[in-house]
Amino acid sequence: MLKKDELEDTQVGKLKDFLHHIPESLSVERLASLSGKAIEYECDGGTCKGYLIYKTDYTEIVDVVMEPPGVWFREHAHSGLETIVVPEGQIEFTFTDNGEVVEVIAPGALIIDRSRPHKAQAKETTRVIGILTPPNGGYASG
Ligand SMILES: [Fe+2]
Repeated sequence: MLKKDELEDTQVGKLKDFLHHIPESLSVERLASLSGKAIEYECDGGTCKGYLIYKTDYTEIVDVVMEPPGVWFREHAHSGLETIVVPEGQIEFTFTDNGEVVEVIAPGALIIDRSRPHKAQAKETTRVIGILTPPNGGYASG
């Protein structure tokens, strides 16, 4: 059995390995060929454009680019877990239930608890892979 530090090192290693392979394996061209489903969210101060990578009754994965820098999502929440992977850029999440602020700098990731209200602002042009379980359209109004 792994000790806590060894487990964390293993998990961080796996995450870094995963993130390292994203730019090749999930290029825009490949995403288009995989799904052909372009998506575009209306953000405040800009847009989030990308692709729906994967969707089942249980999970939805989207890959979007937030631009220009400063573009933000207003406060919202999801019915389930939201896992954020940031392969490029920097994004700031603010949890509006207690004011907690979390910066995610590439390569990084964040798991947002079920139904926890949050807003997010890209500090630079930022690529975000969002994994929503269950799916709810990627962006739900709070
Ligand atoms: Fe969200």
